[in-house]
Amino acid sequence: MTRSVLKRRQLLELLGIGAGSTAAVLLLPQLEAGGSGTTGKAALPFRPVRAPLPLPGDGLGAADQRRLYRTFKVEDKLLVPEGYRAELIAVWGDPLAQGRFGFNNDYLAFQPLADARALLSINFEYISPQTWAAGFAEAVGSPLPLEPLRQALASRGGSVDVASLAANDPLRPLIEAVASAAMADLGIGVIELEQGPAGWRRRGGSRYERRIDGLSGLNEPRQTLRCSGPAAAVFRHSQPLGYRDGLGDQIIGTFANCAGGTTPWGTVLSAEENFQSQVAEAVHADGSASSPQAKPFRWDGARLDGLGNPFRLAGNKYGWMVEFDPRDPNSAVVKHSMLGRFRHEAVAVVARAGEPLVVYSGCDRHGGHLYRFVSDAPVRDPRDPANSNLLTAGRLEVARFNAAGSGSWIALEPETAVQPKPPSHYERFGWQQPTVLPHGDRQRSGSEALGSDVDLQAYCGRYKTLGDLYPLGGAGKDAKLRQQGAILIDAHLAANAAGATACPRPEDTDIDPINGDLLIAFTAAGRDEGGSSDPAIFRGPKGETLWPHGWVMRLSDGDSTRGSNFRWRMVASGGLPWEGGLGFSHPDNLAFDPAGNLWLVSDRSGDADLDVFGNNSCWLLPRAGALAGKALCFAIGPVGCELCGPCFDEGFRTLFMAVQHPGEGQGVRQGKEVEAQSHSLVDRSGQRFEQLRWVPLGSNWPSGVPARPPRPGVVAIRRLDGKPLLG
Ligand code: FEO
Ligand code: CA
Repeated sequence: MTRSVLKRRQLLELLGIGAGSTAAVLLLPQLEAGGSGTTGKAALPFRPVRAPLPLPGDGLGAADQRRLYRTFKVEDKLLVPEGYRAELIAVWGDPLAQGRFGFNNDYLAFQPLADARALLSINFEYISPQTWAAGFAEAVGSPLPLEPLRQALASRGGSVDVASLAANDPLRPLIEAVASAAMADLGIGVIELEQGPAGWRRRGGSRYERRIDGLSGLNEPRQTLRCSGPAAAVFRHSQPLGYRDGLGDQIIGTFANCAGGTTPWGTVLSAEENFQSQVAEAVHADGSASSPQAKPFRWDGARLDGLGNPFRLAGNKYGWMVEFDPRDPNSAVVKHSMLGRFRHEAVAVVARAGEPLVVYSGCDRHGGHLYRFVSDAPVRDPRDPANSNLLTAGRLEVARFNAAGSGSWIALEPETAVQPKPPSHYERFGWQQPTVLPHGDRQRSGSEALGSDVDLQAYCGRYKTLGDLYPLGGAGKDAKLRQQGAILIDAHLAANAAGATACPRPEDTDIDPINGDLLIAFTAAGRDEGGSSDPAIFRGPKGETLWPHGWVMRLSDGDSTRGSNFRWRMVASGGLPWEGGLGFSHPDNLAFDPAGNLWLVSDRSGDADLDVFGNNSCWLLPRAGALAGKALCFAIGPVGCELCGPCFDEGFRTLFMAVQHPGEGQGVRQGKEVEAQSHSLVDRSGQRFEQLRWVPLGSNWPSGVPARPPRPGVVAIRRLDGKPLLG
């Protein structure tokens, strides 16, 4: 524990200020000439933003580190280097197509058009209940009955299955109003940009504008989403074991849209991540959904979830990779079931002429897996829009890592052997970690946690292949499709059964433009009742089995044949510099610039043990030169936020970023309240010293006006001289 919140008396003692003095006049020293160096050929044109702790790349000697880091003031601002400027492009509540710019923007996709114009596609991931409730009336222009609903639900513990209410129950319209408003703030948006004198700005009234939200298609059937691949056969099946929504393979809406990717043929892929917050995750052996009552609507003032319950959404239709074409607002939006259903975070596409299409994606949960899709048919032209069809037939594989830096791919198919990691694997590390598998009673939905090798052996005796767990239901071509579809729908549990490696929350994936390697951000090793990362594979700098600060892995894949192998190594580690890390915690989204430098953003949670890292931030990891192997802080976000979706324009003159959930945790900053914290830091010589840190309580970003609720929004960062970001 390196952090403590100071009482006033302790604070004054640390400052050496008498009890009658005020601490509010403390002035911070300016950072002296900081990290400079090269990213190969050119010197960096920026001095890194001062991070809240000493860094190997900050250019300071040990004495200067102790002197300059004795105090630190966290700001409720988006901080960028001197000589750069961040402009707000769009913010929650702005009108957009038939709806509005949604909440908690995440992934951003920049695609140039002709005549100094461009499209920006935006994911809207989830609702932060506190700041959403506080800001809704101002952002949207009309109030919501949030408090009456909270009070009405209090006697029910804050939640209800809406189907259990009488048709005239007064709760129904209250719930529908709140759930509809929240769903209208999720999903995907497309806006048009144009170049102005100060860089990119939004172009209003564009014919490209589009909004696909959590309920698209509910009231306008023409806007329903489509499903491609084997799961469509499951959705069409007339006699499922579980819930049937009556829509066949049509799908209402998309939500939990986290990271994503662009394809060489011009479409955007949007990843549905934490869908389990809104609909039931558990499915039956035939892939059919649990009843919506398994995920009731909840609003208790702290949690707002189960948003699919009032609309009877089928849980097996969420957790997919969604493809759309931003250039055609009327084109179909498709969920590609061959890419599997899990807590999709990012996606990376490899399309080479004459080879199968390869798509990587990860499942962000403790013990989630890394997946690879390989198409049956080869790519002819990477830019051909018909490549979308390649996503409908192929095989989905999961990664099995070996400790020695190698690994292989396991196909998720009926013939694949059931050979899960046994609990004894974790006992070697002193952990009691059950093996979570598709429920052994195949008439029941969901999973079962097996706590002993004996139980596991009995399970494997009954189910020898994935086909035993997900049996053929009937005969004919559709039966085989449905069987494969069921495996894809239950991909996470099927991957557990197949013995895939449990990973430490895979977040973003990106392809190195210089050598084609896959880069993967694993945000943190941890464990819960649902799983853990494999401590035999994922170890901290000193061999720690639960390294909480994450890594970036470089994976060199072999060919895309069945069962092929790969090599892997960690190339960056989160963590405190004096513990072997680079100075950030929880790497999340990744982006390569044209020179192959890696940019990443952090997403540390609200855990107080991580407060030492300060607000979430954006980092440059130079590819070559004197600063290779170091992380340079390029931006720090406002309080409580996460910076998401970094992407560049085609001239590398602009970095777009989404400021997600400002104020999450502390809420609206009412005045000038700050918390004084004490942090124990270590200089580059290994000497420990104390830092006094001031931390604003809550956020008002982007307005900066006290008591005004914060709002998520998208910014464009450029140099004041208009040159390329690192030119
Ligand atoms: Fe939505 Fe895993 O971040
Ligand atoms: Ca993320």
